[in-house]
Amino acid sequence: MQEIVLPVIGSVAAWRAEASARLQARTPPEALTWRMGAAEPDLFATERVEARTTGQRVSLPRQAVSTLELSLSHRDPERFARAYDVAFRMAHAGLSWGDRRDAALREVLRTAKLAGRAIHKMHAFVRFRELPGEGPRRSFAAWFEPDHPIVEAASPFFARRFGDMDWTICTPGLTALFVDGSLSFRETEAEARPPADASEELWRTYFASIFNPARLKVQAMQSEMPKKYWRNLPEAELIPELIRSAPVRAAEMQAAQARDLETRRVAAARQLCAGARVSVPAEPAAPPETLAELAAAAGTCARCPLHEPATQTVFGEGPEDADLMVVGEQPGDQEDLTGRPFVGPAGQLFDRALAVAGLDCRRLYITNAVKHFKFMPRGKLRIHQRPNAGEVDHCRWWLDAERRLVRPRLTLALGATAARALTGSDRGLLERRGTVETARDGGPVLITVHPSYLLRLQDPAEREEGFSRFCEDLSAARLSLPGQSGVATKDFTSAASTTWQ
Ligand code: URA
Repeated sequence: MQEIVLPVIGSVAAWRAEASARLQARTPPEALTWRMGAAEPDLFATERVEARTTGQRVSLPRQAVSTLELSLSHRDPERFARAYDVAFRMAHAGLSWGDRRDAALREVLRTAKLAGRAIHKMHAFVRFRELPGEGPRRSFAAWFEPDHPIVEAASPFFARRFGDMDWTICTPGLTALFVDGSLSFRETEAEARPPADASEELWRTYFASIFNPARLKVQAMQSEMPKKYWRNLPEAELIPELIRSAPVRAAEMQAAQARDLETRRVAAARQLCAGARVSVPAEPAAPPETLAELAAAAGTCARCPLHEPATQTVFGEGPEDADLMVVGEQPGDQEDLTGRPFVGPAGQLFDRALAVAGLDCRRLYITNAVKHFKFMPRGKLRIHQRPNAGEVDHCRWWLDAERRLVRPRLTLALGATAARALTGSDRGLLERRGTVETARDGGPVLITVHPSYLLRLQDPAEREEGFSRFCEDLSAARLSLPGQSGVATKDFTSAASTTWQ
């Protein structure tokens, strides 16, 4: 039996190197034990046992390797041995990645999912405080307590996002340091929280300003932002008061919205009947660097006349590191009123299809080609009008900016408007559906129909058939993403990371 001791920092890379040498040497899992930490000196050992390789290269599917490695960021002490066991049986004993009967493989998938979730939480809930200093770069620090040892896996995201400043994220296990553009890790010595300063107040103001009482769902909020994280979020002090006053504020907002609506309808009628033309916008300023800033900037967009009759901009929603971006046409009536994409009838159908296809809507970034509702008032109704090519082209500035920040591995274009906005082509949709095209920015785009097309089908059999084909397209998208098992007929994402501009 050989014991492999992995370093506390860089354990995933070390596991990969050790595992790959041992897989080549065909060392069976039961001949190895794995642990993390400084090696204890062994007085009798002569030298470290090196794996004797057979010279045959072992290769595993990329998706399997990335999931096995993600599972190593779970806190379970058995993770290294389990990942090697699965890798060994895949390489040498015919275990297939899709075999859900295999208990160890199921555990790898489960732990990888929990580690992925913890990484997402860290991306969402780390709050930096500025540190005093006079250097050319500003310095920030944050304290965070993740459920799993994910600091190394989660930190490259912060390095990309906050590359122009120095920062430190301390956790009880490791500390990530980003200084002068280079990322390193060390074991945390003392659990010192960063000093409080004026940015505490700033966070509070920010949080109060983005809090929309009409959308308040306490349970959902707590599951996204579990109470245990509140301790380290300065803005969390505001939550009880915001929750308490939400119903009154929501009622006030609704009344104000209703008053506004009539005025807007009249304005819309005038605007559309006057055949307003899209004006050429001034050269855009540099796009903001975070989705929150981008959404805030889009909130005041007046690049084309569609903003005037609409209630508000409906911007994209979802995690900034989403693998899959979904692009629809434009917000509908309910989206316009609530300010959120895909909450109306088309959105409900889409949610059902996502559930059938096994896609978690919380992992998607959902947006539209056009961010304002275009409609024709008819009595009390607002009738959806398809955006024209000029409007789509104007609004593409926002979509392009969203894509540069999210950099999805795959994009799903729902319907002809989205397909045109993304690829520039307006060839017939039905001949393109289910195929993958290249977006203007180089990313792969899977084309499918818009859910409202399915809602318009009258014949029940046709509708059913259309819905199940739609679900198949969504499943194909899911199966081509990393960490998803099943049999994918095509790997749509293979070129995505290299072809982005
Ligand atoms: N249709 C879309 O294309 N987008 C929405 O947000 C709602 C309906």
